[in-house]
Amino acid sequence: MGSQPRRPLLCLVLVIMKGAVWGMNSTMPFKQYLDHDHLFLMEWGFDDLQGDITFTLVVNTTGWIGFGFSPNGGMAGADMIIGGFGPNGSYFTDQHATGNVAPVVDELQSYTLLSMEENEEQTSMTFRRLIQTCDDKDFHITAQPIKIIYAYGTTDEILYHASRRGTKEVNLLNYMTRTAPSNGNYFNAVVENITVPPITTYYHCKTMKLPKLTTKHHIYLMEPIIDNHEVVHHMLLYHCPPVVTETYDHQCYKGDTGDVCFGVVASWAVGGGIYELPENVGIPVGNGENEIYRLEIHYNNPQGRADIIDSSGLRLYYTSELRQHDVGVLNFGMLKMEHMQYNIPPKADQFHSYGVCHTSHFSQIVNPMPDIHVFAVLLHTHLAGRKVRVGHFRDGQQIDFLGVDENYDFEMQQAMNLGTIKTIKPDDSIIIECTYSTTNRSKVTNLGLGTTDEMCLAFLLYYPALPITTCLSHPITQYLTMKSNDNRSEPISNSLSTQTPEYEDIQAYETLLKTIPQVQIIVDDKFNWSTVQIDGIRDLMKTPTVTCEKTNSSIRLGSSWNLVGIIILLLLIVQL
Ligand SMILES: *[C@@H]1O[C@H](CO)[C@@H](O)[C@H](O)[C@H]1NC(C)=O
Ligand SMILES: *[C@@H]1O[C@H](CO)[C@@H](O)[C@H](O)[C@H]1NC(C)=O
Ligand SMILES: *[C@@H]1O[C@H](CO)[C@@H](O)[C@H](O)[C@H]1NC(C)=O
Ligand SMILES: *[C@@H]1O[C@H](CO)[C@@H](O)[C@H](O)[C@H]1NC(C)=O
Ligand SMILES: *[C@@H]1O[C@H](CO)[C@@H](O)[C@H](O)[C@H]1NC(C)=O
Ligand SMILES: *[C@@H]1O[C@H](CO)[C@@H](O)[C@H](O)[C@H]1NC(C)=O
Ligand SMILES: *[C@@H]1O[C@H](CO)[C@@H](O)[C@H](O)[C@H]1NC(C)=O
Ligand SMILES: *[C@@H]1O[C@H](CO)[C@@H](O)[C@H](O)[C@H]1NC(C)=O
Repeated sequence: MGSQPRRPLLCLVLVIMKGAVWGMNSTMPFKQYLDHDHLFLMEWGFDDLQGDITFTLVVNTTGWIGFGFSPNGGMAGADMIIGGFGPNGSYFTDQHATGNVAPVVDELQSYTLLSMEENEEQTSMTFRRLIQTCDDKDFHITAQPIKIIYAYGTTDEILYHASRRGTKEVNLLNYMTRTAPSNGNYFNAVVENITVPPITTYYHCKTMKLPKLTTKHHIYLMEPIIDNHEVVHHMLLYHCPPVVTETYDHQCYKGDTGDVCFGVVASWAVGGGIYELPENVGIPVGNGENEIYRLEIHYNNPQGRADIIDSSGLRLYYTSELRQHDVGVLNFGMLKMEHMQYNIPPKADQFHSYGVCHTSHFSQIVNPMPDIHVFAVLLHTHLAGRKVRVGHFRDGQQIDFLGVDENYDFEMQQAMNLGTIKTIKPDDSIIIECTYSTTNRSKVTNLGLGTTDEMCLAFLLYYPALPITTCLSHPITQYLTMKSNDNRSEPISNSLSTQTPEYEDIQAYETLLKTIPQVQIIVDDKFNWSTVQIDGIRDLMKTPTVTCEKTNSSIRLGSSWNLVGIIILLLLIVQL
């Protein structure tokens, strides 16, 4: 790692996620029993790029199986498949019901059977459909909780299902669970009886050692403890690098060494709840000497109340039964850097900013770099942000998206579990694109920390953990003057340095920022960091859409990314 130009601004994030139940198949990460007796298992996963969703049903019967979606949990209006393995082989059809009567086979078969197996006790079948089909007999799957109906028979003669039926509400595209373990070891990272000052925004920091564990353990679930709901806005627990040895309990960012603790361990924000990690991964604790953690609580006290005593924090459930992998969080994107002149012009309807991370440079820190598997992502900009997309590139070609939010909302920040677990291989690149609207602004928007400044970030939750926390890039804006001088009488950067510039050519400015070389910064878990100059930004593909011929209506496949927060992210920025 080289010597350090200037300290970059590091942006720390609060990941608030409600629990998810995870299966082990990377193409079908989620699983849930639909019945109390655990006789009817549903596993699923989805692909935003292909726009399809795949289910496997494993049911303890050798008879017929019915499964589908219903507007109100009953048969009326239900979209379903009926299948099984009979004396004549397998059968499987897409059907719908118009009332409380036997369903009828759809003219348009929207479900594709991929496999079916039956043994003495169980039948399992795997099938796929488009998330958005163009058949009005099919249920429209959204990222809201939807009612799943199921039934099965003891024979392949499809008769009334008696009591072998049920309904369960599940959010297929934004899956979560809500329960903390009733018995399980945990420790609390909390503040104790602190007085919240009568100011609108207050950040309190407490560095602490967690209760001593003699061996490595894994944290697998986090639960918030909220003492004063009216003022606690977000909480973060960070792991500190070894250089941090002192503990303290006071206002944040007053020049303490703990300011450099930025390895996010756990978090919560308004709207968030419990978060459970995939069952093969955990956050390591207890294997280091005197590990120090920093709890940070953001109090939002607009009424300036002076009477609030608070003891909030996070409860971390841990186990000695180690999971297969340690979790890592990669902070990725574009942030303000010193000596760089980057402004978003006012009156821009759609201004695009980009950040890139070439993992080929990870080899300076981890060599060889293993494949890493991304299971959740959260996207972050400030108030001018309207869209965020993260593209995944291999051999110079985009192969996937790791995240798409076409309706970014600062008030509803969320990280999302991916519908499939996505693998980043050594030498792959990731590119983030943020789209800003500044039509209401009369002055330039700077990159920076305030909510009216901007940033363009994604946080990737992945395994196995690498000793790398951050991979940021920034256009080397010194090139702007040189480039623009070739063509223009007045360098663009001249107009940018004034406070009320004229942006006659916003598009040209955006394109220049995109094409000039970038500097990439990688930070390791010891807070060493290195920089390298890299090429400009490649184009991202268009977000896939479905067009249904009948209606000519265009439906965006990425819509699952936009909806109500399961997981909320809060952002804390530290100027180191
Ligand atoms: C990282 O920093 C530590 C202390 O600051 C130093 O001892 C170590 O050699 C550095 N590692 C690398 C790879 O530069
Ligand atoms: C995961 O599910 C897919 C789709 O059914 C299947 O093709 C694949 O073999 C499964 N992988 C594993 C590891 O079970
Ligand atoms: C369902 O069938 C499987 C496989 O035969 C068996 O292991 C399991 O115990 C059964 N589940 C129940 C709840 O009976
Ligand atoms: C199997 O096929 C035979 C001959 O086509 C038919 O009579 C019988 O009803 C079928 N059985 C089932 C369970 O579908
Ligand atoms: C916090 O205040 C409560 C109520 O006054 C008291 O019981 C408790 O001991 C205090 N805790 C600490 C650590 O001071
Ligand atoms: C921009 O200003 C218009 C008119 O004042 C207002 O309706 C609109 O909500 C504003 N948009 C944003 C993004 O603030
Ligand atoms: C600058 O000039 C070159 C050739 O003279 C041209 O290809 C390029 O498009 C111009 N760039 C801009 C931003 O006008
Ligand atoms: C759908 O759009 C195509 C071309 O955009 C047009 O030719 C066709 O008439 C449209 N169909 C309907 C039903 O509106």
